Amino acid sequence: MDIVVLTGAGVSADSGVATFRGEDGLWEGQRMEDVATPDAWRRDPAQVWRFYQVRRAALLSVEPNAAHAALVHLEARLGRAGIPFHLVTQNVDDLHERAGSAPIHMHGELAQLLCESCGWRGRDLESVDSDAFVPCPECGWERLRPDVVWFGEMPYHLERIDRALQSCKQFLAIGTSGHVYPAAGYLDIARSLGAVTIVQSLDEPMNVHPTDRFVPGRAAEVVPELVQELLDALGLS
Ligand code: OAD
Repeated sequence: MDIVVLTGAGVSADSGVATFRGEDGLWEGQRMEDVATPDAWRRDPAQVWRFYQVRRAALLSVEPNAAHAALVHLEARLGRAGIPFHLVTQNVDDLHERAGSAPIHMHGELAQLLCESCGWRGRDLESVDSDAFVPCPECGWERLRPDVVWFGEMPYHLERIDRALQSCKQFLAIGTSGHVYPAAGYLDIARSLGAVTIVQSLDEPMNVHPTDRFVPGRAAEVVPELVQELLDALGLS
Protein backbone atom coordinates (compact mmCIF):
# COMPACT_ATOMS: atom_id res chain seq x y z
CA MET A 1 0.00 0.00 0.00
CA ASP A 2 3.07 2.28 0.15
CA ILE A 3 2.94 5.64 -1.57
CA VAL A 4 6.15 6.96 -3.10
CA VAL A 5 6.58 10.58 -4.20
CA LEU A 6 9.61 11.60 -6.26
CA THR A 7 10.26 15.32 -6.56
CA GLY A 8 12.54 17.30 -8.84
CA ALA A 9 13.43 20.93 -9.41
CA GLY A 10 9.88 21.79 -10.53
CA VAL A 11 8.49 21.39 -7.01
CA SER A 12 10.71 24.26 -5.86
CA ALA A 13 10.29 26.40 -9.00
CA ASP A 14 7.30 28.24 -7.52
CA SER A 15 9.47 29.16 -4.54
CA GLY A 16 11.86 30.93 -6.91
CA VAL A 17 14.52 28.20 -7.15
CA ALA A 18 15.71 27.89 -10.76
CA THR A 19 15.31 24.51 -12.48
CA PHE A 20 18.43 22.89 -13.94
CA ARG A 21 18.06 22.53 -17.67
CA GLY A 22 17.84 25.63 -19.82
CA GLU A 23 16.73 25.71 -23.44
CA ASP A 24 20.31 26.70 -24.26
CA GLY A 25 21.44 23.20 -23.19
CA LEU A 26 23.32 24.64 -20.23
CA TRP A 27 23.03 23.31 -16.68
CA GLU A 28 22.38 26.11 -14.19
CA GLY A 29 23.71 28.45 -16.86
CA GLN A 30 27.12 26.72 -16.86
CA ARG A 31 28.85 23.84 -18.59
CA MET A 32 28.10 21.07 -16.13
CA GLU A 33 31.65 19.69 -16.63
CA ASP A 34 33.06 22.95 -15.20
CA VAL A 35 31.17 22.96 -11.92
CA ALA A 36 29.45 19.68 -11.08
CA THR A 37 31.95 16.86 -11.43
CA PRO A 38 34.71 15.48 -9.15
CA ASP A 39 37.16 16.43 -11.93
CA ALA A 40 36.09 20.07 -11.86
CA TRP A 41 36.57 20.10 -8.06
CA ARG A 42 40.10 18.70 -8.43
CA ARG A 43 40.98 21.04 -11.33
CA ASP A 44 39.55 24.29 -10.00
CA PRO A 45 38.11 23.96 -6.48
CA ALA A 46 37.78 27.75 -6.11
CA GLN A 47 35.47 28.01 -9.13
CA VAL A 48 33.32 25.08 -7.98
CA TRP A 49 33.16 26.42 -4.41
CA ARG A 50 32.10 29.89 -5.65
CA PHE A 51 29.39 28.30 -7.79
CA TYR A 52 27.98 26.40 -4.80
CA GLN A 53 28.36 29.25 -2.30
CA VAL A 54 26.01 31.34 -4.47
CA ARG A 55 23.46 28.51 -4.50
CA ARG A 56 23.88 27.82 -0.79
CA ALA A 57 23.34 31.50 0.00
CA ALA A 58 20.22 31.54 -2.18
CA LEU A 59 18.59 28.99 0.15
CA LEU A 60 18.32 31.70 2.76
CA SER A 61 16.04 33.83 0.59
CA VAL A 62 13.46 31.25 -0.53
CA GLU A 63 10.49 29.69 1.25
CA PRO A 64 8.57 26.42 0.77
CA ASN A 65 5.44 26.71 -1.40
CA ALA A 66 1.99 25.11 -1.39
CA ALA A 67 3.29 21.94 -3.09
CA HIS A 68 5.79 21.27 -0.29
CA ALA A 69 3.05 21.95 2.27
CA ALA A 70 0.59 19.62 0.52
CA LEU A 71 3.09 16.76 0.75
CA VAL A 72 3.46 17.35 4.49
CA HIS A 73 -0.34 17.18 4.79
CA LEU A 74 -0.42 13.97 2.71
CA GLU A 75 2.20 12.30 4.88
CA ALA A 76 0.38 13.27 8.09
CA ARG A 77 -2.98 11.91 6.88
CA LEU A 78 -1.42 8.69 5.57
CA GLY A 79 0.55 8.29 8.79
CA ARG A 80 -2.63 8.44 10.86
CA ALA A 81 -4.12 5.73 8.63
CA GLY A 82 -0.98 3.57 8.91
CA ILE A 83 -0.13 3.88 5.21
CA PRO A 84 3.63 4.05 4.59
CA PHE A 85 4.78 7.15 2.70
CA HIS A 86 8.21 7.77 1.19
CA LEU A 87 9.33 11.14 -0.13
CA VAL A 88 12.36 10.88 -2.41
CA THR A 89 13.85 14.08 -3.74
CA GLN A 90 16.48 14.85 -6.33
CA ASN A 91 16.57 18.40 -5.03
CA VAL A 92 19.51 19.69 -3.08
CA ASP A 93 17.54 22.56 -1.52
CA ASP A 94 16.08 22.21 1.98
CA LEU A 95 12.52 23.33 1.23
CA HIS A 96 10.90 19.94 1.93
CA GLU A 97 12.37 19.83 5.43
CA ARG A 98 11.58 23.46 6.10
CA ALA A 99 7.94 22.67 5.21
CA GLY A 100 8.03 19.76 7.69
CA SER A 101 8.94 16.66 5.64
CA ALA A 102 11.92 14.34 6.08
CA PRO A 103 12.82 13.54 2.46
CA ILE A 104 15.36 11.04 1.20
CA HIS A 105 17.91 13.32 -0.49
CA MET A 106 19.29 11.10 -3.24
CA HIS A 107 21.46 13.90 -4.70
CA GLY A 108 22.63 15.27 -1.35
CA GLU A 109 22.01 18.65 0.26
CA LEU A 110 23.36 22.14 -0.41
CA ALA A 111 23.00 23.06 3.26
CA GLN A 112 25.43 20.32 4.25
CA LEU A 113 29.23 20.09 3.86
CA LEU A 114 31.33 16.93 3.58
CA CYS A 115 34.98 16.23 4.38
CA GLU A 116 36.69 14.13 1.72
CA SER A 117 39.48 13.32 4.11
CA CYS A 118 37.68 11.94 7.22
CA GLY A 119 34.05 11.61 6.07
CA TRP A 120 32.67 14.24 8.49
CA ARG A 121 29.46 15.86 7.32
CA GLY A 122 27.37 18.56 8.92
CA ARG A 123 24.95 21.39 8.29
CA ASP A 124 26.50 24.78 7.55
CA LEU A 125 24.94 27.86 6.01
CA GLU A 126 26.92 30.30 8.12
CA SER A 127 29.88 30.46 5.76
CA VAL A 128 27.88 31.34 2.64
CA ASP A 129 28.81 35.02 2.48
CA SER A 130 32.45 34.28 1.76
CA ASP A 131 34.37 32.52 -1.03
CA ALA A 132 36.91 31.26 1.50
CA PHE A 133 37.09 27.48 1.86
CA VAL A 134 35.76 26.02 5.11
CA PRO A 135 38.14 23.66 6.95
CA CYS A 136 36.93 20.41 8.48
CA PRO A 137 36.05 20.89 12.18
CA GLU A 138 36.89 17.23 12.82
CA CYS A 139 40.27 16.61 11.13
CA GLY A 140 41.35 20.07 9.96
CA TRP A 141 41.36 19.22 6.21
CA GLU A 142 41.60 22.55 4.42
CA ARG A 143 38.43 22.46 2.33
CA LEU A 144 35.06 20.84 2.86
CA ARG A 145 33.01 20.20 -0.27
CA PRO A 146 29.28 20.68 -0.72
CA ASP A 147 27.55 17.40 0.21
CA VAL A 148 25.92 17.06 -3.20
CA VAL A 149 26.18 14.22 -5.68
CA TRP A 150 28.15 15.28 -8.75
CA PHE A 151 27.93 13.78 -12.22
CA GLY A 152 29.88 10.54 -12.20
CA GLU A 153 29.19 9.91 -8.49
CA MET A 154 26.79 7.40 -6.95
CA PRO A 155 23.51 8.85 -5.67
CA TYR A 156 22.73 8.31 -1.99
CA HIS A 157 20.25 5.91 -0.33
CA LEU A 158 19.65 3.74 -3.42
CA GLU A 159 18.88 0.57 -1.45
CA ARG A 160 16.36 2.37 0.74
CA ILE A 161 14.65 3.85 -2.33
CA ASP A 162 14.61 0.46 -4.02
CA ARG A 163 12.89 -1.10 -1.00
CA ALA A 164 10.23 1.61 -1.05
CA LEU A 165 9.62 1.05 -4.78
CA GLN A 166 9.19 -2.68 -4.29
CA SER A 167 6.10 -2.15 -2.12
CA CYS A 168 4.81 0.93 -3.94
CA LYS A 169 1.15 0.97 -4.99
CA GLN A 170 0.93 4.65 -5.93
CA PHE A 171 3.82 6.57 -7.46
CA LEU A 172 3.73 10.30 -7.98
CA ALA A 173 6.53 12.17 -9.77
CA ILE A 174 6.50 15.95 -9.40
CA GLY A 175 8.52 18.52 -11.35
CA THR A 176 11.22 16.34 -12.83
CA SER A 177 12.19 16.23 -16.51
CA GLY A 178 13.11 12.53 -16.50
CA HIS A 179 16.64 13.11 -17.84
CA VAL A 180 18.81 11.89 -14.99
CA TYR A 181 19.11 8.25 -13.96
CA PRO A 182 18.62 6.34 -11.75
CA ALA A 183 15.76 8.66 -10.63
CA ALA A 184 14.31 8.83 -14.15
CA GLY A 185 13.91 5.03 -14.08
CA TYR A 186 11.79 4.93 -10.91
CA LEU A 187 8.62 5.68 -12.83
CA ASP A 188 9.23 2.61 -15.07
CA ILE A 189 10.02 0.44 -12.06
CA ALA A 190 6.89 1.48 -10.15
CA ARG A 191 4.71 1.00 -13.24
CA SER A 192 6.17 -2.41 -14.01
CA LEU A 193 5.48 -3.50 -10.42
CA GLY A 194 1.82 -2.59 -10.84
CA ALA A 195 1.70 0.82 -9.13
CA VAL A 196 -0.68 3.54 -10.25
CA THR A 197 1.60 6.21 -11.75
CA ILE A 198 0.93 9.94 -11.84
CA VAL A 199 3.31 12.48 -13.33
CA GLN A 200 2.96 16.17 -12.52
CA SER A 201 5.09 18.77 -14.27
CA LEU A 202 4.93 21.97 -16.28
CA ASP A 203 6.24 20.31 -19.46
CA GLU A 204 5.75 16.65 -20.24
CA PRO A 205 8.83 14.77 -18.98
CA MET A 206 10.68 12.52 -21.41
CA ASN A 207 10.06 9.31 -19.41
CA VAL A 208 6.24 9.48 -19.39
CA HIS A 209 4.44 6.38 -20.69
CA PRO A 210 0.94 6.37 -22.23
CA THR A 211 -0.41 4.47 -19.22
CA ASP A 212 0.84 7.13 -16.77
CA ARG A 213 -1.53 9.91 -15.89
CA PHE A 214 0.16 13.18 -16.79
CA VAL A 215 -1.09 16.25 -14.92
CA PRO A 216 0.32 19.47 -16.40
CA GLY A 217 0.61 22.72 -14.48
CA ARG A 218 2.52 24.56 -11.79
CA ALA A 219 3.25 22.38 -8.77
CA ALA A 220 2.10 24.98 -6.23
CA GLU A 221 -1.33 25.03 -7.87
CA VAL A 222 -1.78 21.43 -8.95
CA VAL A 223 -0.14 19.36 -6.19
CA PRO A 224 -2.55 20.47 -3.40
CA GLU A 225 -5.45 19.40 -5.67
CA LEU A 226 -3.77 16.09 -6.47
CA VAL A 227 -3.13 15.40 -2.80
CA GLN A 228 -6.76 16.12 -1.96
CA GLU A 229 -7.88 13.81 -4.74
CA LEU A 230 -5.59 11.04 -3.47
CA LEU A 231 -6.89 11.42 0.09
CA ASP A 232 -10.49 11.44 -1.16
CA ALA A 233 -9.89 8.23 -3.10
CA LEU A 234 -8.45 6.61 0.03
CA GLY A 235 -11.35 7.87 2.14
CA LEU A 236 -8.97 9.95 4.24
CA SER A 237 -10.17 13.50 3.63
P1 OAD B 1 15.10 19.71 -14.56
O1 OAD B 1 15.57 21.12 -14.54
O2 OAD B 1 15.73 18.77 -15.52
O3 OAD B 1 13.52 19.65 -14.86
C1 OAD B 1 12.63 20.44 -14.13
C2 OAD B 1 11.22 20.01 -14.47
O4 OAD B 1 10.34 20.81 -13.69
C3 OAD B 1 10.82 20.21 -15.93
O5 OAD B 1 10.13 19.06 -16.36
C4 OAD B 1 9.89 21.42 -15.89
O6 OAD B 1 8.83 21.33 -16.85
C5 OAD B 1 9.29 21.28 -14.51
N1 OAD B 1 8.82 22.55 -13.92
C6 OAD B 1 9.30 23.80 -14.05
N2 OAD B 1 8.58 24.67 -13.32
C7 OAD B 1 7.61 23.96 -12.72
C8 OAD B 1 6.53 24.28 -11.83
N3 OAD B 1 6.33 25.53 -11.40
N4 OAD B 1 5.73 23.27 -11.42
C9 OAD B 1 5.91 22.00 -11.84
N5 OAD B 1 6.91 21.64 -12.68
C10 OAD B 1 7.74 22.59 -13.12
O7 OAD B 1 15.20 19.18 -13.06
P2 OAD B 1 15.23 17.69 -12.48
O8 OAD B 1 14.44 16.75 -13.33
O9 OAD B 1 14.88 17.78 -11.05
O10 OAD B 1 21.11 16.31 -10.42
O11 OAD B 1 16.74 17.34 -12.61
C11 OAD B 1 17.18 16.10 -12.14
C12 OAD B 1 18.61 16.18 -11.72
O12 OAD B 1 19.38 16.73 -12.79
C13 OAD B 1 18.89 17.14 -10.59
O13 OAD B 1 18.66 16.59 -9.32
C14 OAD B 1 20.32 17.46 -10.77
C15 OAD B 1 20.28 17.70 -12.26
O14 OAD B 1 21.44 17.60 -12.93
C16 OAD B 1 22.32 16.45 -9.87
O15 OAD B 1 22.76 17.54 -9.58
C17 OAD B 1 23.04 15.16 -9.64
